[in-house]
Amino acid sequence: METIWLYTALPLVIVILSLKFFSTRHRNLPPSPVPALPVIGHLHLLKPPVHRIFSKISQKYGPIFSLQFGTRLVVVVSSRSLVEECFTKNDIVLANRPRLLIGKYLGYNYTNMVTSPYSDHWRNLRRLGSVEIFSAGRLNKFLSVRKDEIKRLVLKLAENSRHDFVKVEMKSRLAELSFNIIMRMVAGKRYFGEDEDYDEAKRFRGLIKEMVKSGGVSYPGDFMPVLRWMDYQNFEKNVAVVFEKMDAFLEGLIDEHRRNKNDNTMIDHLLSFQESQPEYYTDQIIKGIIMVMLTAGTDTSSVTIEWAFSLLLNHPEVLEKARAEIEAQVGSDRLIDEHDLSNLPYLHNIILETLRLYPAAPMLVPHESSADCKIGGYNIPRGTILLVNAWAIHRDPNVWDDPTSFKPERFEGVEVEPSKLMPFGMGRRSCPGSGLAQRVVGLTLGSLIQSFDWKRISEEEIDLAEGKGVTMPKVKPLEAVCKARSMVDKVV
Ligand code: HEM
Repeated sequence: METIWLYTALPLVIVILSLKFFSTRHRNLPPSPVPALPVIGHLHLLKPPVHRIFSKISQKYGPIFSLQFGTRLVVVVSSRSLVEECFTKNDIVLANRPRLLIGKYLGYNYTNMVTSPYSDHWRNLRRLGSVEIFSAGRLNKFLSVRKDEIKRLVLKLAENSRHDFVKVEMKSRLAELSFNIIMRMVAGKRYFGEDEDYDEAKRFRGLIKEMVKSGGVSYPGDFMPVLRWMDYQNFEKNVAVVFEKMDAFLEGLIDEHRRNKNDNTMIDHLLSFQESQPEYYTDQIIKGIIMVMLTAGTDTSSVTIEWAFSLLLNHPEVLEKARAEIEAQVGSDRLIDEHDLSNLPYLHNIILETLRLYPAAPMLVPHESSADCKIGGYNIPRGTILLVNAWAIHRDPNVWDDPTSFKPERFEGVEVEPSKLMPFGMGRRSCPGSGLAQRVVGLTLGSLIQSFDWKRISEEEIDLAEGKGVTMPKVKPLEAVCKARSMVDKVV
């Protein structure tokens, strides 16, 4: 009997004591909120919107704290000075990404720009991105695509609103706009609205729905290897099936462009590189780039426009001021163009203020430490996942006056330091698509303000609650009423 006790309970006691010994205090880890539950640790805290939960924890435990997500140590930072420390002194060490399940599939086995570890491969991708995809020259090449899609949206909204105010649902229209812009830049395809190849468009839309439904971004097996090993609820199998279908679809697009060579889209451009360097520009790399454009470049922009519009409808005086600026700088004989954006500082400040209050990636994208380092005097062991609560910093009363109010004027004549406002992240892993995003958001918002009178659907303010989802969507999709202004018929 005693022997059994010795062989079963004693090792358990030893494990518990060692865990206690190596607890956060002994290892000088950032403080950790209790209780961490057995096996899952603090995973039970992850209820959306997560940035609000983390913000509450940081108010109690300070601007840096650690959590245990299953077997993974996670550190969350929520202050300006600590973020500066992360992305200046420790930028290289923290430039890795955790290997989450989503990266195996959507990230093409961790080889695309978002999910790749910090490596020569990632540096090559970023170089390719900054010269061949996101440079001003490349973006200008697709200016007509962006203008055409926005013009189509203006025409669609004007269809029934020339004589009276009509109710419009904005969320899906903006999502379709951003998908069409990206897919036309990438492959010359419109998958939403008229001019679409019906069957192909239907397949694409179905796949996007399936990808969203597969829930790959919030997979508990990422933190509990036993679940991944058992493939709990066939999770990985289901993600793999959806991914395979999307992969085949993208391969089809590449083959189509290989057959009908021209120089109009990103796929054509990348295929021309493939001809000279087939070993590097493989189909997998090209598909990885398309997948990045689709996953990182669509919702982020459309959600930002939706938030901006919601804020403007709750602040009609700001909307009026933006329109007055557009009228003074652009007039009403033509639609606003991308080259006008630099002459519209108030519109720019509205976008900054929207990204401050409602950043589409409120916790940025998870980073991982590739070596031991220190943040705020605490030890951060190699392999720690780092989350940055940009949302909390953007609303920190020590950083911003009257932080929860929508006041685009706060940016007038002010150069904002990156550690105060970081909707696109900071350091070497920051967003390479920020220039494209600012063009799409600026041009869409400006055109809609210029072309329509806008009102809320009732006296009630637009509900600004944040819902579930990686890109911080609104709980209630935006609806508004609009009436086309007389200039619309002249300009579109
Ligand atoms: C990464 C925000 C639009 C492509 C990121 C990150 C943020 C972000 C916060 C992570 C930074 C970090 O890890 O610290 C946004 C916002 C957007 C937007 C708020 C729109 C309003 C776009 C667009 C594209 C794009 C239009 C491309 C079409 C990427 C890529 C990365 C990234 C490829 C990964 C960079 C890397 O890991 O090296 N973005 N983004 N984003 N974004 Fe964006």
